[in-house]
Amino acid sequence: MIDTLIIGAGPSGLCAAKTFLQYDPDADIVIIDANKTIGGVWSRERLYPTLKTNNLFSTVDFSDFPMDALRFGINPGEHVTGETMHSYIKAYADHFNLTHRVRFNTRVKEITHREPVDEGHTSWDIEIENGETLHCRKLVVATGTQTNPHMPAIDGIEDFRAPFVHSSSLGERTEELMNNPEIKTIGVIGGSKSAYDAVFLAASTGHDVEWIIRKSGRGPTWVVPARTMMGPFLALRERLVTRRLMSLMSPWPFPDYSGFAWLRNFLHFSWLGKLVAQRFWGKVHAGSLRDCRYRENEHYEVLEPEQNPFWYGTSSGVLNYGEDVLKYVSSGRVRIHRADVSHLSDHTIHVRTDRYEPRPLALDAIVACTGYSAKPTLAFSPPSFQFDIGVPSTSATKSQSAFWGQLDERADLIIGSQYPRLLLGPFQSPTSSTPKYFNPGATSEAEAPYTPWRLYRGMAPPGLTASGDHSLVFISMFSGVSNTIRVEMQCLWALAYFRNELSELKKDKEDKKIFLETALFQRYARHRAPYGHGPSYPDLVADQLPYWDLLLHDLRLETRRKGGWHELVEPYTQQDYAGLVDEWSSKRR
Ligand SMILES: Cc1cc2nc3c(=O)[nH]c(=O)nc-3n(C[C@H](O)[C@H](O)[C@H](O)COP(=O)(O)OP(=O)(O)OC[C@H]3O[C@@H](n4cnc5c(N)ncnc54)[C@H](O)[C@@H]3O)c2cc1C
Ligand SMILES: NC(=O)c1ccc[n+]([C@@H]2O[C@H](COP(=O)([O-])OP(=O)(O)OC[C@H]3O[C@@H](n4cnc5c(N)ncnc54)[C@H](OP(=O)(O)O)[C@@H]3O)[C@@H](O)[C@H]2O)c1
Repeated sequence: MIDTLIIGAGPSGLCAAKTFLQYDPDADIVIIDANKTIGGVWSRERLYPTLKTNNLFSTVDFSDFPMDALRFGINPGEHVTGETMHSYIKAYADHFNLTHRVRFNTRVKEITHREPVDEGHTSWDIEIENGETLHCRKLVVATGTQTNPHMPAIDGIEDFRAPFVHSSSLGERTEELMNNPEIKTIGVIGGSKSAYDAVFLAASTGHDVEWIIRKSGRGPTWVVPARTMMGPFLALRERLVTRRLMSLMSPWPFPDYSGFAWLRNFLHFSWLGKLVAQRFWGKVHAGSLRDCRYRENEHYEVLEPEQNPFWYGTSSGVLNYGEDVLKYVSSGRVRIHRADVSHLSDHTIHVRTDRYEPRPLALDAIVACTGYSAKPTLAFSPPSFQFDIGVPSTSATKSQSAFWGQLDERADLIIGSQYPRLLLGPFQSPTSSTPKYFNPGATSEAEAPYTPWRLYRGMAPPGLTASGDHSLVFISMFSGVSNTIRVEMQCLWALAYFRNELSELKKDKEDKKIFLETALFQRYARHRAPYGHGPSYPDLVADQLPYWDLLLHDLRLETRRKGGWHELVEPYTQQDYAGLVDEWSSKRR
C-alpha cells in the first residue's frame, strides 16, 4: 500500500510531492503520469517550436527554485520558451529528488474508494490502463485541465482526406504539418490563444492560413501585449493583477483578508465607489483595445473581442511571438472568417456565411484549436460517486441534481445580493444594457452534459470532507495567471488538509457549511468568467490575490506580507511567499 499517490507529473503534481517531502522527508510518495516525459503541458512531447509561456522571465518559476538566467539560457524581459519550461521543470524534479519517484507511461483509468475496515484507513484502488491496480491511502489528483483534447464534431470529417489535428498534438506533428511541401494552406479553427499560436506557427513558416472563428460562439478572445501603459508608466500586465489595488476592483463574495475590506466595500457598495470601479474596467477595456490595435486596420477588426476583458478569465493570452502576428493578417497571408463550419469534404472546409450556400475553402490540413474537454481523464467508480465528490460527470441522479440545484440557488442569492451585475453577465455590447448571458456557443453540445468541478476551496471533495474523510485532494483544477504561486499554496493547503489541520474548514464543517461554500465558489467562478473557463472550473485573474489570502487564512499564515502603502500598490510575487512550508511547520509547533 502506497501512502500518498500523486497522479500527474506536471508542475502541480511535482510541487505537491516536493511540499509533502519538505514537511516529511521520509514520506512514502509515488507519482504516476501517462506521458513519456516530465512536465505535463511542458512535457517534451507537447512542445511545438513557437510555444512560449504567456509569462515573462522570473514570473513563472517556483519560489524555492529560481529560474537561473544563465543556466536556462533566458534573458530578463523575455517570455519563457516551452523548451526552457521543460528543462526547468525537469531540473526542479531532479533538484528536489522527485524524478526517481515518477512512473511514466502509466495512465489511470478508474479509481475506486474503499471504506475503512475494522477502524482501519480509507484507501483507494487505482486501476491502470495496463490492467495493474495500485493501492494508496491518500490520493492527489493533479491531472490538469488541459489534457483531454476537445475535437469538434464536424460532418464529413471522414471525407477530408488531409491531416486534421488538435492543437495539443502540434508538438508531435509539427514536422509533418509545417515542413511538408504539399501542405500550403492550413485551416485553423478556434478563437483563443492556441488558435493565435497555430496561426502564427503556420504563417511564420510560409503557409497561407484560413482562420475560422465560429460565429455562434464567444468569438475571438483577448490576446494582448505583455505590457501596457498605466498613465505615464509601462506596466507588466501579469503583475498588475497581483496588486491589491487592482484586485479590490473585482467583486469578491468571500471574506476579505487584505486589510482593505473598507476600500472594497467603498468600491462596490457606494455610488461613488461603483462609479470608480466601473470607470476602471472601462479604462482596462479601452487600454486593451488600444494595445491590440484592432481598430487600426480594417482587416484586424474581426479579431476584436465582444466583451470587456473583465469576463474572460484565462481564455486569453499574451502576444509572446517576438514579432507582429497581425502583419500576416494585413498582408493577406492569414484570412479570418467569423463563420460557423458547415461540413468538410475532400481537402475543403465549408463555412456558413450570410450567403445561402456554405462557402468552400480549400485546405491541405486543419489544426483544431478548440480547447479541452470537460470530461475528466480518469473515472471514479461508481459514476454516482464521481458526481458526489465534485468531479465533472454526466451521471447525476435526480436527487443529486436537486441537492446541488438548491445550493446553487442559495449561492446565486448570496452573490446577487452583493453583486447583482455579476449575475446578469456581460451585456450584448459595451454600449448596451441588455444582458447577453453565457454564450451557448461556448459550450458545444459535446461538452454541455458535464457538470462543473465542485470542490471546497477549489480542492477538496465536499461530500468526503463533510464526512471527515480527508484522503483525496485535487490540485489545479483551476486556472489563473500567476499559477506557480497558487500551486505552491494549494499544495501546502493539501498537506494541511490531509492532516486535518485547517481550522476554518473545521468551523465550516461544524456549521454544516461545506456544501454551501463549495457551491458559492463554483457559482462565483461561473459568473465571474463566463467567457473564460469559469463554467467548468475556477478561472481567476484579478481575483487571484483574495483567493490566495483565503488559503493563507485557512493555514493561519500572514496574508499582508508587505505593509504600509506597498501593500496596496506593489505587486505580489513568488518571493513574497517564499518559505511558506517552513513558516507553516514552525507556526504549528
Ligand atoms: C499550450 C498551453 C500553454 C500554456 N501556457 C501557460 C502559460 O504560459 N502560463 C501558465 O501559467 N499556464 C499556461 N498553461 C496552463 C497550464 O496548463 C498550466 O500552467 C500548467 O501546466 C498546469 O500544470 P498541471 O501540473 O496542473 O497540469 P498539466 O501540466 O496538464 O499536467 C498534468 C499531468 O497529468 C497527467 N495525466 C492526466 N490524466 C492522467 C491520467 N488519467 N493518468 C495518468 N496521468 C495523467 C498528464 O499526462 C500530465 O502530465 C498553458 C496550457 C497549454 C495547453
Ligand atoms: N502560453 C501560451 O502561449 C498558450 C498557448 C496555448 C494555450 N494557452 C492557454 O491554454 C488554455 C486553453 O487555450 P485554448 O486556446 O487551447 O482553448 P480555449 O481558451 O478553451 O479556447 C477554445 C476555442 O475553441 C473554440 N471552439 C470550441 N469548440 C469549438 C467548435 N466545436 N467549433 C469551433 N470552435 C470551437 C472556442 O470558441 P467558442 O467560444 O465558440 O466556444 C474557443 O475560441 C488557455 O488558458 C490559454 O491561455 C497558453
